[in-house]
Parts: sequence; C-alpha cells; structure tokens
Amino acid sequence: MEIKIRPYQSIDAETIVAILNYYIANSTALYDYELRTLEQQQSIFEEKLTKGFPVIVATIDERVVGFGYYSEFRFREAYKFTVEHSVYVMPNEHGKGIGKVILQNLIDLAKTQKLHTMIAVIDHENQSSVAFHEQFGFATVGIIKESGFKFERWLHSVIMQLILK
Ligand SMILES: CC(C)(COP(=O)(O)OP(=O)(O)OC[C@H]1O[C@@H](n2cnc3c(N)ncnc32)[C@H](O)[C@@H]1OP(=O)(O)O)[C@@H](O)C(=O)NCCC(=O)NCCS
Repeated sequence: MEIKIRPYQSIDAETIVAILNYYIANSTALYDYELRTLEQQQSIFEEKLTKGFPVIVATIDERVVGFGYYSEFRFREAYKFTVEHSVYVMPNEHGKGIGKVILQNLIDLAKTQKLHTMIAVIDHENQSSVAFHEQFGFATVGIIKESGFKFERWLHSVIMQLILK
C-alpha cells in the first residue's frame, strides 16, 4: 500500500467535501454547523492557492484518502511567517500512516516557503489529533476554553505550535 502525495486538483473536491462533511456532522474536529457544498469548498481552496499556499491530497491507488493545507494564521502583516494547517484523513482509513505523510509534506513545504512556525487549532476532545501532532514535535502552547459551542456543549480549542528549524 503506497501512499502518494500530489497537489490538489478541483476534481478532488467531491471526495474532500464528503470527508469534511462527515466530520462536520459527526465530530467536533470542525466547528462548522452547516455542511459544505462542493462550490464553497472549491472556492475556499482556490483562494488559498491564489495566495500561494499549498493544498495537497494523499492517494492510495489513485484514490483520494486524505488531504491537508495551510494558510495565514491571522491577517496582519507581521504574522506572515506563521501559518495554520489542517489535516484530514478519510474516516475508514485512520491509523494507516496517511496523516503522517500529509503532515510531513506540509512541514517540508512550509520550510521550503521559508515560514517560521506552524499552528494547529485542535478541539480538546480530539485527543488523537493532539497525540498525532505531538509526534511531530508540536507543543501545546495554550487552551482557549469554551471557545466553541456544538452538539449542546462548550468546546475548548487546544493551540499547538511547531517552530520550524
Ligand atoms: C488526526 C488524523 C489526521 C491522523 O491521521 P491518521 O492517518 O489516522 O494518523 P496516522 O496513521 O498517520 O498516525 C500517526 C500517529 O498519530 C497518532 N495517532 C493517530 N491516531 C491516534 C489515536 N486514535 N490515538 C492516539 N494516537 C493516535 C499515533 O501516534 C500515530 O503514530 P503511530 O502509528 O506510530 O502510533 C486523522 O485521524 C483524522 O483525520 N482525524 C479526524 C480529523 C481531524 O481530527 N483532523 C485534525 C484536525 S486538527
């Protein structure tokens, strides 16, 4: 089973929206309430790509099984060496090393783009993602309590950071 990485193409958006909508409907990994449409997701990615940020997909036998991207952390100019990233793997493909390959690629791309630090904003209930990021050297630098409200409960955002060397 070979996991390959390539740049996102608009044809991938259908699978990507299905992955995202699964997590929107069933988890606190995303803080959205409403499911996304194909058009919405395509334009979100087009905007990132236009700004020079990467969107990548992982494939197994040409089948999209996960994706990742990063873009600006905050919009003021002095934040320009800081990015916030996301990684999503198809629910039935967890634990096969796909997320690792995607995140390692994003880290390598960020280094190539001479960025300084990467930030992950992770829901506190999502401890598998916290453990996943720790493996790459991300450290928890803050927890924003009760910053989200979904499924009739307050959610806390864990801020994890990696300084790129
Ligand atoms: C988090 C996520 C991206 C990890 O991807 P994955 O392909 O399942 O992870 P991998 O198989 O590459 O695992 C890499 C490491 O993460 C850790 N990890 C992954 N799942 C874990 C779990 N459920 N519990 C504890 N550690 C876990 C392990 O340390 C693992 O390393 P190991 O295989 O050497 O033990 C994936 O589970 C996912 O898409 N989750 C839902 C969406 C999400 O939460 N995205 C992140 C938002 S910030």
